[in-house]
Amino acid sequence: MSSAVAFARRNQPRFLDDLKALLRIPSISTLPEHDGDCRKTAESLLADLKRIGMEHARLIDTSGHPLVYADWLHAAGKPTVLVYGHYDVQPPDPLDEWLTPPFEPTERNGNLYARGAVDDKGQVVAQVKALESLFAASHALPLNVRVLLEGDEEVGGEGIADYVASRPADLKADFALVSDSELFAPGLPTICVGLRGMIYTEIEVRGAKTDLHSGMYGGAAPNPFFALAHIIAKLKDENGRILIPGFYDDIVAPGVEQVAAWRSLPFDEEEYRKTEVGSKQLVGEPGYSVLERTWARPTLDVHGMPGGFIGAGAKTVIPAKAQAKISMRLVPNQTPAKAFALYKSFVEKIAPPAVSVDVRLIHSGDACLIPVDNPYIQAATRALHDVWGKDTVFIRSGGSIPIVGDFDRHLGLPSVLMGFGLPDDNIHAPNEKFNLKNFALGIESLIRFLEEVGR
Ligand code: BES
Ligand code: MN
Ligand code: MN
Repeated sequence: MSSAVAFARRNQPRFLDDLKALLRIPSISTLPEHDGDCRKTAESLLADLKRIGMEHARLIDTSGHPLVYADWLHAAGKPTVLVYGHYDVQPPDPLDEWLTPPFEPTERNGNLYARGAVDDKGQVVAQVKALESLFAASHALPLNVRVLLEGDEEVGGEGIADYVASRPADLKADFALVSDSELFAPGLPTICVGLRGMIYTEIEVRGAKTDLHSGMYGGAAPNPFFALAHIIAKLKDENGRILIPGFYDDIVAPGVEQVAAWRSLPFDEEEYRKTEVGSKQLVGEPGYSVLERTWARPTLDVHGMPGGFIGAGAKTVIPAKAQAKISMRLVPNQTPAKAFALYKSFVEKIAPPAVSVDVRLIHSGDACLIPVDNPYIQAATRALHDVWGKDTVFIRSGGSIPIVGDFDRHLGLPSVLMGFGLPDDNIHAPNEKFNLKNFALGIESLIRFLEEVGR
């Protein structure tokens, strides 16, 4: 066992305490009232990076929350890694479904429960603790390291995208290490090699000039919720196929060997329906497996429809306006700009004539596919085999991490998506958790990986 791994094992209780402290800060990037908490989280990570021996540690202001940057570049002749993660979290609601409060991290049956436990504070802390252990073992790192953490991933990551596009020389590296994904199954080392892109939009529909009494005006005044219902019903058919003309035109489908490899992964659709989804049936396009539907096909979803009266009790009103928050997940070779243009003009065309519609883009990101034929992925599989005793599986994920595409486009970096969540970790949902064993083995895997690259 390397002495860095031994250090990590000895210090595991303190590592966990440090993670808990970070999880107590509600760094919810989408809510402006938590701007101060986002900065506090960034400052806390900054202090830790300085403490362990990283240099040039600083916050970088952006149009959103600050980036955290630090480097250590004294391993002459060795590769340089760009370590990435995000310290922001999703809102915790619905609050009444949490068994223990989202910002009071609690250990229960081998897991740590809190918002951000695994997405992504727990994995960012795993990265920092891996670096700390490497420093502690030899007062140096086995390779050159730049750390770049963001606080806007959950809202599209515009700030980091601008920074990466404008300062490529400050981020020179050979590959990126991204810890923000999951194992395909417990105990199964996994590298994610594909992510979906997305466009997140809002449709605002206006009918009357003001809210109206639904008895006096009902039957004559247009109701914006009905207009939205008509629009939404025309966006997707009952088989889950998106009806926006041209939407599927540019898609590059996965190869047959790829789809065959996915079929040999340990995955049972009925088990997934019952234990992960918990619905009566699954939905989706006929002819595609669940893994193909979620990894390699685009989709469209409605997240919420603000407007009208939603308080307890009854109010008889025809609201003047209503909104729908709608996103589409994109797959390789679709572009957010084209997808949005097609969607916007289709929505404008199908909108009932009695209302006016405004279709707005909130944020977007490209899909990405990561080639596996590079030495960093090879080193990762060796390190993972050491720690988990198994061969690595390569998977895609239906989720999005917008900056990964930019690492490739603007910095020319391949990314190694080495994450340690589990499929049932409830990310973005109540009772998010991080399996404590995965936290510990995650740190060991990251240590072994960086040692392996620096060998
Ligand atoms: N970590 C997730 C993405 C993810 C989930 C990758 C599971 C691999 C496996 C990330 O924090 C996330 O949730 N991203 C958002 C991005 C969006 C708001 C632009 C997403 O996918 O909804
Ligand atoms: Mn994440
Ligand atoms: Mn997330």
